[in-house]
Amino acid sequence: MEETCLLLILLLSGGLSTLPPHSREYHFVNQLMTWTKAQSYCREHFTDLVTIYNSNINQLLFSISPRINNWAWIGLYDDRYSWKWSMEGKLFYVGSTHEFLIWANGQPDCVNAKEYCVALQGQTQMNDRPCGASYPFLCYNAKNTSYILVMESRSWSAAQSYCRTYHTDLTSIRSKEEKSNITLTLNGSGVQYVWIGLYRDPWAFWSDNTTSTFTNWRSGQPENYGSVEYCGAMDLMSGQLNDGTCGVGIRFFCFRAVTKQTVVKMKLQSEADMHSTEIQQQVSQQLSGLMLSEGLTDFRIRWRKLQSCRDDQSKKQDVDGGCKTEV
Ligand SMILES: *[C@@H]1O[C@H](CO)[C@@H](O)[C@H](O)[C@H]1NC(C)=O
Ligand SMILES: *[C@@H]1O[C@H](CO)[C@@H](O)[C@H](O)[C@H]1NC(C)=O
Ligand SMILES: *[C@@H]1O[C@H](CO)[C@@H](O)[C@H](O)[C@H]1NC(C)=O
Ligand SMILES: *[C@@H]1O[C@H](CO)[C@@H](O)[C@H](O)[C@H]1NC(C)=O
Repeated sequence: MEETCLLLILLLSGGLSTLPPHSREYHFVNQLMTWTKAQSYCREHFTDLVTIYNSNINQLLFSISPRINNWAWIGLYDDRYSWKWSMEGKLFYVGSTHEFLIWANGQPDCVNAKEYCVALQGQTQMNDRPCGASYPFLCYNAKNTSYILVMESRSWSAAQSYCRTYHTDLTSIRSKEEKSNITLTLNGSGVQYVWIGLYRDPWAFWSDNTTSTFTNWRSGQPENYGSVEYCGAMDLMSGQLNDGTCGVGIRFFCFRAVTKQTVVKMKLQSEADMHSTEIQQQVSQQLSGLMLSEGLTDFRIRWRKLQSCRDDQSKKQDVDGGCKTEV
């Protein structure tokens, strides 16, 4: 038997995983910056602006900040351009221009932080409107590729249900051809507002791209005062959240992802030829499955071939166990 050793290395890390918030370090930055500057600062000096996953983190941030009558930026923001079509989950703006679809002057403005659905206004331009408002709506029927104007006024989601029940869905407008057919369908109807399939999720994004549905809005917030408040901040007196004007300079919270790597040594006993790539893959797969079933998502498994067991022992005292692989 040749004197080579195989080492199965399991790297467990906190790092940039979406999950364990305990692998993050939190920092309060006592400097006044706009949300975007704060984001750059956090990315340069730490990892990013904070994401609040739960009330414990909310409480932690509150505890590391001073009690002053002001706000501090967090990573939360409201993306006014994250529109999606009801018929398909894809983001509206991704990879295409929409010269055939234009926003009415000053839109989208998300008045009172309530406008998360889109209606055609004056039959040609888009306007974000309160989803609960009752308007006629445009369904699309995929069976006979037709556009149906339903002249009953309904809320956006009631309109969506109707279209999904009797046709295919609320209509999308993805091309000039579609737009011209819709214009034709609406011609002469006299409708002022008509729902189409465009909508978005309010306050759905965090600077580091992870998702958290945690909210702790101060009563009456968010309210998008003056239609300019699209960034999330924490009230330093109460720890509650508020929407703020992104361009205002305030203090902020950053986090650092602590990349703790744990190397796990394993002793494998097997009759099989552990030098076989196939067998190594099988072992790795089984180990992955085991880790995932334990809820661990952030890990890597590697095999390393050592020149000789002795080599490894002399170089790396701490992984000597790896040489016990028996073939
Ligand atoms: C397409 O089918 C729908 C549902 O059956 C119907 O309401 C509509 O009138 C049809 N349109 C055309 C142009 O055939
Ligand atoms: C819409 O109108 C165009 C012509 O402008 C036509 O080619 C197309 O088939 C129509 N139907 C749909 C579903 O776009
Ligand atoms: C709308 O309908 C009228 C007649 O009812 C017609 O003259 C006009 O050209 C139509 N407009 C469009 C944009 O199709
Ligand atoms: C977040 O996602 C966007 C788009 O997918 C990407 O451009 C951006 O670099 C990501 N940011 C981070 C911090 O990962």
